[in-house]
Amino acid sequence: MLIKVPKASDCHESDVTPESFYLSRRNLLGATVAGLAVSSLPRWASADDAARYADVEPGKAPSWFAEKLPSTKWGAVNVKDEAITPFKDATHYNNFYEFGTDKGDPAANAGALKTEPWSVVVDGEVGKPGRYALEDFMKPYQLEERIYRLRCVEAWSMVIPWMGFPISALLKEVEPTSKAKFIRFETLQDPKSMPGQRSGFALIDWPYIEGLRLDEAMNPLAILAVGMYGRELPNQNGAPLRLVVPWKYGFKSIKSIVRISLVSEQPKTTWQSIAADEYGFYANVNPTVDHPRWTQARERRLPSGLFKPNVRDTQMFNGYSDEVASLYTGLDLRKNY
Ligand code: MTE
Repeated sequence: MLIKVPKASDCHESDVTPESFYLSRRNLLGATVAGLAVSSLPRWASADDAARYADVEPGKAPSWFAEKLPSTKWGAVNVKDEAITPFKDATHYNNFYEFGTDKGDPAANAGALKTEPWSVVVDGEVGKPGRYALEDFMKPYQLEERIYRLRCVEAWSMVIPWMGFPISALLKEVEPTSKAKFIRFETLQDPKSMPGQRSGFALIDWPYIEGLRLDEAMNPLAILAVGMYGRELPNQNGAPLRLVVPWKYGFKSIKSIVRISLVSEQPKTTWQSIAADEYGFYANVNPTVDHPRWTQARERRLPSGLFKPNVRDTQMFNGYSDEVASLYTGLDLRKNY
């Protein structure tokens, strides 16, 4: 983002290789034991699946979460021969500026975030506005597992198994009025538990805000996630509720959401407000439109390091063109980056 141009050396903290994620007998035994401890491991998990989750730390899922675990198997979308990023990398290399600007800060500091009780306000152009306790907010939805690529605007990427539900299901529940054209999301503002909001990091005018066009939000790939790797979201990944829009740069996927508003005007989003020439409202992953300070043609798939940079070509819409390109027919993606 604005802080620094990422260097290959930024990503070397893990020496876990994707291969190590797959079956070794020791891992399998460990995973099975861990699987017993991780009550939130999906019901359908086989020994192979459990091995994929071998390094997942147990969470402390609230009771409503366990009841909603998906009964269907891996919902990989266009991710066939790509290894899932090890849990350790996905949870220790984060952007969550409310907890600091270094990649390790969220894991180090987000423990102070209290995610229970949690409430979500739904307001604006909706027939059914309200403030909901999270367990009530979640009642209508069944969780689905979605394995998606996550591509950060800083040119690193991961593959993450999320658990969530399509935003389209929420929209059906809350009944947007005919004036609703966009959906706006807001992160918790709580300087007591969020050191980044106390630090006078003047660039961001808290709370963090993101938004989507209504038709983007209706796309089946756009989900609200409450879990990853078969367990509830760790705080540093945006517990208890975050957005996941896999064809857009990661900064669109706003974390720890407390407010969802249906609005008639395009919302002012955080990074666009800071530097509109660098971070657009659309933020669709696009290898042909460079960030003014670095190329977007390639990306580093984590885990990556100085001696194993793991570089690959960036895919248009992060590999989800078939599902989303039609949303942008007639739109100049160079201007609407
Ligand atoms: N949401 C909030 N509230 N604050 C943030 O700083 N960072 C964004 C996004 N959501 C951010 C946020 C960025 S830049 C990215 S790349 C992703 O979260 C990173 O998600 P991850 O840490 O789970 O990989």
